[in-house]
Amino acid sequence: MKPDLRFELLDKDAPRVTVRFAGQAYDVPEGANLAAALLAAGVDAFRQTAHRGVGRAPFCMMGACFDCLVEVDGVSRQACLMQVAPGLDIRPARQLREGPYAAR
Ligand code: FES
Repeated sequence: MKPDLRFELLDKDAPRVTVRFAGQAYDVPEGANLAAALLAAGVDAFRQTAHRGVGRAPFCMMGACFDCLVEVDGVSRQACLMQVAPGLDIRPARQLREGPYAAR
């Protein structure tokens, strides 16, 4: 976790599992909210706007804004409505793949 982040996980002793976001591995607490866990791990852009290519990150954390849109195991999902599970393969939303945050 980056020291300058404002997100702090409530259960710091939760068992950690590995998920992948844009090809990079992150150890995050199992069962935590996926959007919050990725933010706490330092992920700062979940998708990119289609028009200007600006990186977007979770905003509402309740399923309304879709700024947390990602693909999890090939299915479009809102990260703020998911829990962390071992082995998740998470990719930025499709339009992000072509930009500066493209998966490698
Ligand atoms: S953060 Fe708004 S829908 Fe997920």
